[in-house]
Amino acid sequence: MADLRVKKVKDFAAELTVPGDKSISHRALMFSALSNGPCEVTGFLASEDCLATRKALESMGVEIEDLGEDGTHIRVHGCRGEFSPPEGPIDCGNSGTTMRLLSGILATQPFETVLTGDESLSKRPMNRIALPLEKMGARIKGQGDRCLAPLEIRGKEKLTPIQYQSPKASAQIKSAIMLAAMAAEGKTSITEPYPSRDHTERMLNYLLVKNIREGDTVSIWGGQTPESRDIDVPGDISSAAFWIVAAAARPGARLMINNVGLNPTRIGILSVLIRMGAKIIERIDESGCEPKGSIEVIGGKLKATEIGGAEIPTLIDEIPVIAVAAALAEGKTVIKDAEELRVKESDRISTVAENLGRMGVPVEQFGDGMEITGVSQLKGAEIHSLGDHRIAMAFAIAGLFAEGDTVIRGVECIETSYPGFIRELDELQAISR
Ligand code: S3P
Repeated sequence: MADLRVKKVKDFAAELTVPGDKSISHRALMFSALSNGPCEVTGFLASEDCLATRKALESMGVEIEDLGEDGTHIRVHGCRGEFSPPEGPIDCGNSGTTMRLLSGILATQPFETVLTGDESLSKRPMNRIALPLEKMGARIKGQGDRCLAPLEIRGKEKLTPIQYQSPKASAQIKSAIMLAAMAAEGKTSITEPYPSRDHTERMLNYLLVKNIREGDTVSIWGGQTPESRDIDVPGDISSAAFWIVAAAARPGARLMINNVGLNPTRIGILSVLIRMGAKIIERIDESGCEPKGSIEVIGGKLKATEIGGAEIPTLIDEIPVIAVAAALAEGKTVIKDAEELRVKESDRISTVAENLGRMGVPVEQFGDGMEITGVSQLKGAEIHSLGDHRIAMAFAIAGLFAEGDTVIRGVECIETSYPGFIRELDELQAISR
């Protein structure tokens, strides 16, 4: 298990870019594989999670060429969704997006596939996608009531369209259904309690697959093949979030992040930090398939806030690092309606509470969130990532503010979403050797 020792830094001033968006990179691969020809993808995130999707598609006969040295520029040869059966089980690694979205594609294939995952992924509920995909006519067999991996999926070329009321605001559920719906005869609709991230809708529209949103419902028509077009992936706001908090919570700090995705369904963290007292300006330079631009942050003394309801899906992956901001803010921050955190790469309510506690921060846990009481000084501590990339990175950021070294145990997981994070931390002179 690799460790990282982080020390307090006095000042913070940086201008940087972050690697490609993880959600958009998975979709760029899958949708271009479904298309009718070659698509060049630039800015692709060559991290473990997205490489699991790449390998999965390659194992089903999709040709993917590297056009550069670092894996971020690739050409995917679309096969119109006619895949060949893989030779063995497909390993989705740690990636929930790979397993759930791929299930939507496999539901349309006339063969049986087995999807496996690592220890963490094998504990995450797959019944949320199995249920609607089975209603459409696929057969999905998992382990136990929550349909855990390994999953056996038996697809069907002609699926039945459904009108689905999703119990959760989840882009993975919505996207799995939309992918299957492309092979259904007629119109499929999905209604969510609140809108989740809309990368699937945007990218499919860009690839000329008609889908529309009316209120909280998205509809898509079967029988459409994506048009092969080149896709540019912007930087990942979820990776930028770590540096944004590092700057926002430090009076006088300055940060500029360029070429980052600014999709309104993903930038809840910016509104929260502004409410907490940080100065943040976003500038959209381009609004093609996905809006992208720059974010400028000037740090200040933060104050507590409340986060819940429709805001949660817009910042769900950022909650660990938002919790670090709350620990540095004056007052009690309450996060609620976020029970989804319990079934992420780790139980992020208990991992955040446990690790903040080690740094001297009082945290009360609820079933669907937590209350964090800000402290005047964080204490360096031993932190356990539990194999969760966002916990490892959030607490590396906490370490920048702590008195005494912070040792993060188990940092290999950072590779699942942010190769280069540790290098960036090193540039800030924040690694103790
Ligand atoms: C994702 C959707 C979210 C998010 C995950 C990526 C996606 O999950 O937390 O990291 O790419 O669709 P849910 O759909 O489970 O909310």
